[in-house]
Amino acid sequence: MPVDIVLGLQWGDEGKGKIVDFLSPNYAYVARFQGGPNAGHTIYANGVKHILHQIPSGIFHEGPKCVVGNGALLDPVALAKEIAALEDAGLAPAERLIVSDKAHLILPTHPQLDRLSEEMKGAAKIGSTLRGIRPAYQDKYGRAGLRAGDLLRADFEEKARALMRVHQELLRQADVEVDLDEMALAFLSAVDKLRSLAILPVEKLLHDELKQGKAVLAEGAQGTLLDVEFGAYPYVTSCATIAGGACTGLGVSPRRIREIIGVFKAYCTRVGNGPFPTELDGVAGQQLRDAGNEYGSTTGRPRRCGWLDVPALKYAIDLNGVTRLAITKVDILSNLETFDVCTRYQDGQFATDDFTQWTPDGMAPKYETFKTWYPGDFRRHHLPPELNRFVVWLEEQTETRLHWVSSGPEREALIARK
Ligand code: IMP
Repeated sequence: MPVDIVLGLQWGDEGKGKIVDFLSPNYAYVARFQGGPNAGHTIYANGVKHILHQIPSGIFHEGPKCVVGNGALLDPVALAKEIAALEDAGLAPAERLIVSDKAHLILPTHPQLDRLSEEMKGAAKIGSTLRGIRPAYQDKYGRAGLRAGDLLRADFEEKARALMRVHQELLRQADVEVDLDEMALAFLSAVDKLRSLAILPVEKLLHDELKQGKAVLAEGAQGTLLDVEFGAYPYVTSCATIAGGACTGLGVSPRRIREIIGVFKAYCTRVGNGPFPTELDGVAGQQLRDAGNEYGSTTGRPRRCGWLDVPALKYAIDLNGVTRLAITKVDILSNLETFDVCTRYQDGQFATDDFTQWTPDGMAPKYETFKTWYPGDFRRHHLPPELNRFVVWLEEQTETRLHWVSSGPEREALIARK
């Protein structure tokens, strides 16, 4: 049986969590394959708002088991808090969580190193979430990191302290002092919670289950335009956010992949620094930010806002091989009379719809203007005519089926087009 993937086609915050939550009951496993606590997936389950950072968005349904794959990072301290918050809400997440023995751990010194690196970059900083993502992946690829499987070994504490001492030395060279004992104490007690979960070779579990006919939903984090290879480097995150990352981040073959569901917002947002061709400054950007409540769910930072960028969307669709699209937050555009969508970039006589040709100097986005639809004019399987026209236009532009239209944060506000 197949693996389907849900991933973001912009710079993250597309509303993937809601789509994963909606699709989860159809799967035996919902699996995160990359990223870590830098993610913030917002889900309204039974009228209550939850923000997940590391736990897969299938956790609100009884059926699927939730997997953290080898490609993801785990911060044990943050995970313990996330589990406790769900327990307070009456759920029992620990019973349904499975962690890859090969998932790398974020140690308390990793966020400190992240902060230092950003400070040293000054104005050229990435705008990281400061959750320790870059240094933890750096340790992974530098073959120095600790993995969840190491928790089961007698020398774990010794190894964790040794790696933290290496980090302490790096920090000390930049005159940053950290209290290692205090950090180690909090870390080692949180680690007990993680140790109590099922930690195993997830790739083997998934191989066996797929052979038995079970289906897996792979849940992407961040977005395609933050991919370490294809995003605007260095203004990217530190891992593969594209569909290929699901194979390496879970240990499943590309031959297992069936649907690749690409989620995008009806406009664009970005947190952190880096190029953003359709960014709106001033009042127009603030209007979108207010209407869409565009503030980071992990850091609370105001998100940069701009119009939908079709060339960027087409690039993301091609990189992932998207088979079906989901558009979110169409209700936010109801607050405006008209809205714009970028169809190409232009510099004098030269115009292109090729995202890879866009440069910040001289290349201006060119827009088509659309009339918006009335707020609240959404019924199940029925889109307002102006929205329907827009959706059909998007399908023509992207040559991809646009299957789901999300018109609000609640579970019910999702129309599956016939
Ligand atoms: P890092 O992943 O924390 O190192 O941050 C690198 C860049 O990715 C920064 O611009 C962050 O704002 C951005 N980023 C990381 N995770 C997310 C996310 O889940 N949503 C949106 N942006 C993110």
